[in-house]
Amino acid sequence: MSLSVPLEAARRRTFAIISHPDAGKTTLTEHLLLAGGAIRAAGAVRARGETRRTRSDWMKIEQERGISVTASVMTFDHTGLMFNLLDTPGHEDFSEDTYRTLTAADAAVMVLDAAKGIEPQTLKLFEVCRLRDIPILTFINKMDREAQDPFELLDEIGSKLALDPAPLYWPAGSGSRFKGVLDLRTDRFTPYVRNADGETHDSIAFRGNAISQYLDPTEVEEVSDGAELVLGASKTFDPKAFLEGHMTPVFFGSALRHFGVEELLAGLGAFAPPPKEVAASRAAKDTHVAPGETEVTGFVFKVQANMDPNHRDRIAMLRLCSGRFTRGMKLKVQNTGRQISVNSPIMFFAADRELAEEAFAGDVIGIPNHGVLRVGDSLSETGTLKFQGLPNFAPEILRRVRIKDPLKAKHLKKALEGLAEEGVTQLFRPSIGADFIVGAVGQLQFEVMADRLSNEYQLDVLFEAAPFAEARWVTGSRADIEDFSGKHRNAMAEDIDGLPVFMAKSSWEIGYVTERFPGVTFQRTRERG
Ligand code: G4P
Repeated sequence: MSLSVPLEAARRRTFAIISHPDAGKTTLTEHLLLAGGAIRAAGAVRARGETRRTRSDWMKIEQERGISVTASVMTFDHTGLMFNLLDTPGHEDFSEDTYRTLTAADAAVMVLDAAKGIEPQTLKLFEVCRLRDIPILTFINKMDREAQDPFELLDEIGSKLALDPAPLYWPAGSGSRFKGVLDLRTDRFTPYVRNADGETHDSIAFRGNAISQYLDPTEVEEVSDGAELVLGASKTFDPKAFLEGHMTPVFFGSALRHFGVEELLAGLGAFAPPPKEVAASRAAKDTHVAPGETEVTGFVFKVQANMDPNHRDRIAMLRLCSGRFTRGMKLKVQNTGRQISVNSPIMFFAADRELAEEAFAGDVIGIPNHGVLRVGDSLSETGTLKFQGLPNFAPEILRRVRIKDPLKAKHLKKALEGLAEEGVTQLFRPSIGADFIVGAVGQLQFEVMADRLSNEYQLDVLFEAAPFAEARWVTGSRADIEDFSGKHRNAMAEDIDGLPVFMAKSSWEIGYVTERFPGVTFQRTRERG
């Protein structure tokens, strides 16, 4: 029996984990799932990854490079709350995918390696969270290894991120001298027992006699002094400042040793926000969609190829924004007006995928389809609602695709269109010439693409330097666009939806045409619909 729509929405916690590669995101994901009761033993996430990889050849890249290319979502019900953990790929070349995933998250956990502090990728991802007002909880990981001074780590959060750190715990040592953490709000100490893989230990009163079992008098003094100092020097945790993105509660622990993870999950339950109102427009009028509204609405933030290379199906990840979704429901795509019957929606539980019978705001359902759904699509029962602020990223590198066997040109077109529909890359077809141009945000995307074209479509391709440096979508009145394109025939192309794109040789050229053609606008990203 489900609750009312607003109450179901209110018990959702949809979050992502952001970190620099190697800080421990995968390990923390696994241990959060363990803490949430979604899996029974550590090793399951990785094991699942292995079987997945053997099923899909292109994921060899993931394995070889030790990066995670695909983003998925994992759902678990714990302490009366429904957690949706969105897995964000870690490698910087896949930032586009990561950015999109963050549009579907209501909160983020920032994992820092205690020995390294804020690393470049952490900073980049943090900036995206800030841009989208996503509140952040900080988990300082690997305390079981030699760490930086915790004061320095907190200082770095303050100075590099301009975010007030509010430590909720204080560590006793690190590495071989790591003894546990003190809860600064309750004054209770949770001892760290090194061989306790997966076990949790009950906390004890820090000021009582029992503490001598775990800490010698010098250590007690050290922790006591540290705690006093940090409480004096930092701001007290303020949930409002956290929700507004000015403050981050800080946890210390070791994901690998399952230490501090339960506390983090409890923190997510207590502080991370339920789904909030989302800005949208209906019939060209601005509006907001509240999670408790009855109409079922949502947006596609990711399209994933079916794991089975023999099937060309795609799974569109729909983040629900309102209403009670039930299986078999009909939803309309705002920009195309197409209606789809969602008969086999998938929900992703850690161990399995299951058919979703019902889902609410904050949940993510996977909708199998044959290319009808695209990243950025708004879906609703009436089909009249369009969500705002869904990101479309400007391609930063352009390459010309050359196929080794010219007889397969038609096949190549289909394959490239498929990958563009998934949002893996952007595709441009120049008005003059037969070669396609593909755009990506990072070099690695081309490698993934070449690998997939070879394994899934048996196509051998080369990516060559393109004669263009930048792509700009051309918007304006029909007459102005025609005037501009007519004068730049050999620099015009169409994107996958037939929208006109100007391929410039340099950014200087964009400045030049912008001045000369005031009637048209040159946009770095495309807005569908
Ligand atoms: P990522 O997803 O952020 O890239 O990091 P991942 O979890 O894969 O962790 C990177 C490495 O750090 C792994 O070691 C992992 O075991 C280790 N690690 C994660 N959390 C902790 C922790 O709390 N304490 C310690 N000591 N190590 C931690 P690896 O040797 O690269 O991989 P593996 O052979 O252990 O799988």
